[in-house]
Amino acid sequence: MSTQDDLKALNKKLQAASARLPLAGTPAAIVPGEGPITAEIMFIGEAPGYHESVQRRPFVGRSGMFFRETLRQVGISDETVYISNIIKARPPDNRDPVPAEISAYKPYLDEEINLIDPVLIVTLGRFSMAKFLPDARISQVHGRLHKVGWNGRKRFVLPMYHPAAGLRSTQVKNAFIKDFEKIPKAVAWIKDHHLDLQLEEEVRDALF
Ligand code: URA
Repeated sequence: MSTQDDLKALNKKLQAASARLPLAGTPAAIVPGEGPITAEIMFIGEAPGYHESVQRRPFVGRSGMFFRETLRQVGISDETVYISNIIKARPPDNRDPVPAEISAYKPYLDEEINLIDPVLIVTLGRFSMAKFLPDARISQVHGRLHKVGWNGRKRFVLPMYHPAAGLRSTQVKNAFIKDFEKIPKAVAWIKDHHLDLQLEEEVRDALF
């Protein structure tokens, strides 16, 4: 079982690597993930914006407030979930991350996922969705629970629109809120079915 100290050690490692990480340069530029090691739900966004880089916390700007408020509306406290990003330092002018940047931060995000070992991963926006569902289109798959093979094991992933897109379009905002309402149900369903699904896989692997 991982502990909160394992997360602290990972963040220390990330800060120690900041000089050679793109967009960072110094430990102060790093915006680590936040939340309890016991979190059942892990949210993965894109990259910190201005407010995140000043406060050194993920999702604390305008879109972050919308995200956290929507969580509250569906009965989930933001203190019980883990919130992170694909990229841990702010891209200039909030531009999209490039593949080399995504690769540079990948080992840290992968380790975060392994340490948290969440019941459900919710991706926010197309960059984090592409980590698990590289060929999917967000307009077609948002709000649908996916079971994916990732790093040698199965993970449940619920892709969602990015909250910033929800702030730009009423239609996306409504879809974003509706999709969030599915999160508690998805977690309950996975927990109810987990052992059955695991057994089914073991039998399938053994027999076929
Ligand atoms: N957008 C993101 O993707 N992540 C943040 O932390 C803030 C805004």
